[in-house]
Amino acid sequence: MTAIYPGSFDPITLGHIDIIERAARCFDRLYVCVMMNADKKNPMFTPEERMEFVKKAVARFENVQAESWQGLLTDYAVQKGATVLVKGARNVCDFDNEYQMSLINRSIKPDLETLILPASAPYIHFSSSMAREMIRYRQPLKRYLPPEIAEDVAKIAEQKHIGR
Ligand code: PNS
Repeated sequence: MTAIYPGSFDPITLGHIDIIERAARCFDRLYVCVMMNADKKNPMFTPEERMEFVKKAVARFENVQAESWQGLLTDYAVQKGATVLVKGARNVCDFDNEYQMSLINRSIKPDLETLILPASAPYIHFSSSMAREMIRYRQPLKRYLPPEIAEDVAKIAEQKHIGR
C-alpha cells in the first residue's frame, strides 16, 4: 500500500520525522511531498531548499521517498497510485483543519482516505513556525530539526541574512 505525507515543510522538523517514522511502518511506500500551501504566502525557504532538507532528513528510511508537487494533492495521489494521505495532528485545532482538508480531498477523490496520526507527546509543541522563530533568533537548531539538516538550515539562513 502506498501513502503520501504532504506538507509545506518550511522547514521539516523532528515532529514531522516522528510522523514519517511511524507512517513508514504502516505502509509499503511513503512519499513525503513538499507542496504549496496557498495560505502560507511567504515561506522562509524556497521549494528547492525545502525539498533538499526533506531528502536529507528521510534518507535513512528505506521505503520513504522525498518529492515535490505544485498542483492538486489528489492529482499527485493518482499519479503515485496512493490510496492514503497521512497527516499529523498535535491538538484539536490541527484535527479540525485536517478533517476539513480530508473532506475537500475526498470530495475530489472519494476513495482517497486520510489517516490522521496523533503527534507523539515530546513533539506536541513543535511546528515549522516555531522552528523559523528559532532560526531567526539563531538558537541551536538540533533540538527542533533533524540532525542531518540543522547545520545546512543555519548556513542557508545566514546566507539569506535571516534574523539578526
Ligand atoms: O504543512 P501544511 O502547510 O499544513 O500542508 C498543507 C498542504 C500543502 C498539504 C495543503 O495546503 C495542500 O494539500 N496543498 C495542495 C493543494 C491542494 O490539493 N489543495 C486542496 C486540499 S486542501
